[in-house]
Amino acid sequence: MAVWVGICGVAMNDIKKINFDSKDKFYNYLNLKLTGLICEEPDWLANLSNAAGVLWLLLEDINWAGFYLYKNEELILGPFQGRPACTHIKIGKGVCGTAAETKETQLIKNVHEFPGHIACDSASNSEIVVPIIKDDRLIGVLDIDSPVIGRFDEKDRKHLERFVAVIVRYVNFPECFV
Ligand code: SME
Repeated sequence: MAVWVGICGVAMNDIKKINFDSKDKFYNYLNLKLTGLICEEPDWLANLSNAAGVLWLLLEDINWAGFYLYKNEELILGPFQGRPACTHIKIGKGVCGTAAETKETQLIKNVHEFPGHIACDSASNSEIVVPIIKDDRLIGVLDIDSPVIGRFDEKDRKHLERFVAVIVRYVNFPECFV
């Protein structure tokens, strides 16, 4: 008898690198797996950690993926994968602080042309930062870096904004972030 298990509670080893012929298909898979990982887990730290892990596992050509969280009027380093990174970023500073201040995604084709870019890893050449907003309030940002100039485009923006929408929907952020 077939058993319908739905998308929640995906097994960790169900997540595999697969070659898709389009970014749309790739991101549909990524966002489905993210939903499966986090939709039944109540712990915010576990969920952001697995969100960083699934990005690191599945995205090609990246050297950093993770979160900065808004606390005491600045961004503080959260769960991530990649080289150790700067721990405090002021609102309005760097790509992350700009995304936090404007509440708009920053899609940076070449970080060396972005005034005030904060170089946590000298391998980074392009970057995308998506703000995490819940009920009009800043929770933090998702930050992904790549060694490839022009790595991220409008499709990445659209789907990574959906990735963040899944996080906003399912993650129970503690009071200090909301
Ligand atoms: N490059 C970011 C800093 C964070 S690291 O990339 C992990 C920025 O300019 O805000």
